[in-house]
Amino acid sequence: MEDKNIVLEVEHLKTSFFYGKKEGKAVDDISFKVKKGEILGIVGESGSGKSVTAMSVMKLLGNTKGRVVGGSINFMGRDLLAVSDKEMRQIRGKHIAMVFQEPMTSLNPVLTVGEQIAETIVVHEKVSKKEALARAKELLDTVQIPLAEKRLGEYPHELSGGMRQRVMIAMGLCCNPDLIIADEPTTALDVTIQMQILELFKKLREQYELSIILITHDMGVIAEMTDRVMVMYAGCMAEYGDTATILKNPRHPYTKALMKAIPRLDEKQEYLDAIPGVIPSIFNLPEGCRFHPRCRLATERCRKERPDAFTVDGRTVCCFKAFEEVKESL
Ligand SMILES: Nc1ncnc2c1ncn2[C@@H]1O[C@H](COP(=O)(O)OP(=O)(O)O)[C@@H](O)[C@H]1O
Ligand code: SF4
Ligand SMILES: [Mg+2]
Repeated sequence: MEDKNIVLEVEHLKTSFFYGKKEGKAVDDISFKVKKGEILGIVGESGSGKSVTAMSVMKLLGNTKGRVVGGSINFMGRDLLAVSDKEMRQIRGKHIAMVFQEPMTSLNPVLTVGEQIAETIVVHEKVSKKEALARAKELLDTVQIPLAEKRLGEYPHELSGGMRQRVMIAMGLCCNPDLIIADEPTTALDVTIQMQILELFKKLREQYELSIILITHDMGVIAEMTDRVMVMYAGCMAEYGDTATILKNPRHPYTKALMKAIPRLDEKQEYLDAIPGVIPSIFNLPEGCRFHPRCRLATERCRKERPDAFTVDGRTVCCFKAFEEVKESL
């Protein structure tokens, strides 16, 4: 049965990078859904496969040695893995927008803010340059940039980091997208600005019933912003489901560790000192559960077998220990 409310459905996605004979499994069997008007969070340490997931959905792996090797990506009833490059460009322009961590690299330094927003509008819609500039001003108002008129004539380097990120969001909104994928959109910003940008995403979601995938390494952002969350580790799904359920009672040891590492707002905490060790390279992944070298609860079985997903109180977990705990409590 097809649910009209589901904007994006990713099933058993696998994406690998190929160097010579070596295959690096950056994303290895993850599944998730995004509903209309919903914010889905994807969280995990650096290197867990969050950006590769986003790039796979956007089909932006073309310039890399990576490709999708399994699974399906369905966007509003269309199989994205089957659409042509031309159709995909249209989908990216009209339906899915992406906002990256460092806006400076995505903005053109030699064009004014107004010129680049207008350019994006003209590409997608048959409007004059003058109309496009008027729309650009409206969009700057929408993303709450003060003195929008004046900003239109400024260059990216004249803006603060927070303002640049707002410009990127405005460009993403040019085509009235159904889905925005925001990959660590506030990581480079200081805390106050970060909160303002996150508030803006919330407002846009309400205003336009936008669906948003918010990628972050920060459980605090997940708690503040998301309806549902997928916790990723080394290309795999650790835990996935309703954010409130998972935060109230996390079942996967990695989710628990991430929650202990929620940075306090008043200090810059070195990420994840709650868990010893580092995330493995995709070219040297451990057998069994990928988290086992860092998991205090690991057993012989965890070192050999990969845990299957099971569902408990509406959320999905991939962990042998969590499964035993649930069984015992029944
Ligand atoms: N172009 C690439 N070539 C080889 N490996 C890559 C490439 N891009 C990403 N990876 C690897 O894929 C894994 C997941 O990366 P990424 O999705 O960027 O992590 P995250 O966004 O969660 O920090 C990492 O091990 C990273 O080194
Ligand atoms: S399956 Fe084993 S190693 Fe993996 S998270 Fe669970 S207890 Fe830890
Ligand atoms: Mg990333």
